[in-house]
Amino acid sequence: MLRRYPVGIPLSGDFDLVEADVAELNEGEVLVETHYLSMDPAPRLRMDGAAVFPPPLPLGQVVMGRGVGIVRGSRFAGLSTGDAVAGELGWQEYARVSGAQLRKVDPQAGPLQAALGVLGPSGITAHCLTNYAAKVQSGDTVVVSAAAGSVGSVAVQLARSLGARVVGVIGGAHQARFVREDLGADAVVDYRSSCLDADLADACPGGANVFLDSVGGALHNVVMACIADHARIVVFGYISAYNSAAASQREYGSIYQIIRRRATLCGFLISDYAPRFSEALTHLGAALAAGTLKSFEHCVQGLDNAPAAFAALFDGDPVGKQLVQVRPLKNSKQRVTP
Ligand SMILES: NC(=O)c1ccc[n+]([C@@H]2O[C@H](COP(=O)([O-])OP(=O)(O)OC[C@H]3O[C@@H](n4cnc5c(N)ncnc54)[C@H](OP(=O)(O)O)[C@@H]3O)[C@@H](O)[C@H]2O)c1
Repeated sequence: MLRRYPVGIPLSGDFDLVEADVAELNEGEVLVETHYLSMDPAPRLRMDGAAVFPPPLPLGQVVMGRGVGIVRGSRFAGLSTGDAVAGELGWQEYARVSGAQLRKVDPQAGPLQAALGVLGPSGITAHCLTNYAAKVQSGDTVVVSAAAGSVGSVAVQLARSLGARVVGVIGGAHQARFVREDLGADAVVDYRSSCLDADLADACPGGANVFLDSVGGALHNVVMACIADHARIVVFGYISAYNSAAASQREYGSIYQIIRRRATLCGFLISDYAPRFSEALTHLGAALAAGTLKSFEHCVQGLDNAPAAFAALFDGDPVGKQLVQVRPLKNSKQRVTP
């Protein structure tokens, strides 16, 4: 559970690991044994006592987090013991949750944990970004920030398979190799480079037609300086400011470029695309089965290591989907780290 609001990058001491009995299920609830937890940057925005939207996570509560696991008890008509499910389980080994908010996972579609990554929210987000929001086309030059991350690693592959030339923005040699060699990006630029603007100009000789921006901050402005006429910019995150106390006050200085390049800047919330999720999953599942899409995961063992795995999203070097494999207890006690 959350002990105190982190200042900057979260520390293990910001969380407590506690044990509690699992209460009896109410009508409509199921008990899920958590197998994997997804480490996502967005919950960091709620670990802030002064947050406005989304609201702060109260101290002493289980940390929110998506997970995948197996139903061990059910009082919900749509789910039975043994079913694989994904949804908001929180950082806990056993979760008592409303069955209606869970998604049944098809065990034939891929390994269980894929339901948190390429066949889950990250894959669906990348599919909706490339196909619907940015409408990536053959011949486009597409710049993807946080290209080695969970959403970015799928977006790079999908943009490539749509015929685009893809430039991945990465941090460090390990990510550079991953994005070029494993994901197939045409070029990479390192956001820590002292000549990032020149590197980007070299990587995008005709300018960027599409910019998928989940980082914001200084990087946003550097990429904006090299967009092509009529570029499509989709802003869907600003991870560079998630650990900053002044996140809500940060502004982009690139509106001038939007006007000059007659670009379209659009915000993106994956929830708007809910009616298209099953279409996205069908497409992603087929691509995975055909081998044109690959799943990349970095898995940390044990719930005790969840805080460090979470902090690594902001200050580490994981590539692909960051997961925690939770070791289920053999008795009915529940251990929770909120
Ligand atoms: N709007 C929506 O509906 C929606 C949906 C899903 C995700 N998102 C957003 O998409 C972004 C990525 O989410 P994810 O789940 O795919 O996580 P993730 O990519 O696995 O998160 C970590 C990645 O972010 C990079 N990063 C962290 N701080 C950075 C910085 N200051 N500058 C440049 N890169 C930085 C990391 O690289 P380093 O290790 O080099 O720092 C790493 O590649 C987040 O902003 C998230 O909020 C939005």
